[in-house]
Amino acid sequence: MQHPRIAEIRYRRLGYVALNVTDLDRSERFYRDQVGLESLSARGPDDARFLRCGPEHHAVVLFKGARPGLKRLGFEMESPEALDALCEVMAAEGIACQELPQAECSAMRIGRGVRMVEPMTGATFDFFDDMREIGGRPFVPTVAKIQRLGHVVLKTPNYPDAVRFFRNVLNFRISDEVEGAITFMRAFPNPLHHSLGIGRGAKPGLHHINFMVTEVDDIGRAMWRFQRAEVPVVNGPGRHPPSGSMFYYFLDPDGLTVEYSFGMEEFPEVGARKHRVLVPGTESLDYWGGPTDPRKSAVGDIESV
Ligand SMILES: [Fe+2]
Repeated sequence: MQHPRIAEIRYRRLGYVALNVTDLDRSERFYRDQVGLESLSARGPDDARFLRCGPEHHAVVLFKGARPGLKRLGFEMESPEALDALCEVMAAEGIACQELPQAECSAMRIGRGVRMVEPMTGATFDFFDDMREIGGRPFVPTVAKIQRLGHVVLKTPNYPDAVRFFRNVLNFRISDEVEGAITFMRAFPNPLHHSLGIGRGAKPGLHHINFMVTEVDDIGRAMWRFQRAEVPVVNGPGRHPPSGSMFYYFLDPDGLTVEYSFGMEEFPEVGARKHRVLVPGTESLDYWGGPTDPRKSAVGDIESV
């Protein structure tokens, strides 16, 4: 029996990803100069670096950590009521959902936020009602016309249970899956094919983070920019059958996998097509059949708290 308020858990978007990196200055330069995010001069807690790619205060926060990977990720809810519904459902499920102190909300430039450790992946999730915008100074793209932080993919040995949890308890919707391997989920009713992916892994980990770009030239330019800067490319360019996106995967200075993608199917809130189950194999992951470097998604811890 599902909790009656699950249907009220409605998301606006994937808000931000916080990463642990071993060298803050080096990673800040990389995400600014190679990826194309804007680095803010204001620093966060523990000298954290904020980077943005839209009007909101940040899409990425870099923290110093010995083990590179995911510190946490944050979803913006559609409304304060949606955040209330989420808290009520988590309480009924017996999952601790901590109210963030006002000082932390201020530091992270959010209104109200709660934090929980998602039980199936061990990843820390923040859910918040609003992120402040930087007024009067729009984000100006530089090396790539980044539209947004697109999605984050996690891997876990509890793959089927994790998918069930996000669908049945957190009200995510399944857009497509590659059978037994990975499920692409949208943060309902956000129309994007996926804001979160859950994959099967021998141990929990961060698989990759994604930035959506505006045109195919963003990928073409990245090919030559990364070659000049000796940024390792680990997969692509290619095109994903599940979402129709053109993709290009590369490594950040710690070896974390980052993706650019161009184009993505969108779903209506009502009357969305049923989710497809694709047979496992390269043809379900890349129409173009390119090779994958073994370094892809090889690095990326999930911080446990
Ligand atoms: Fe992706």
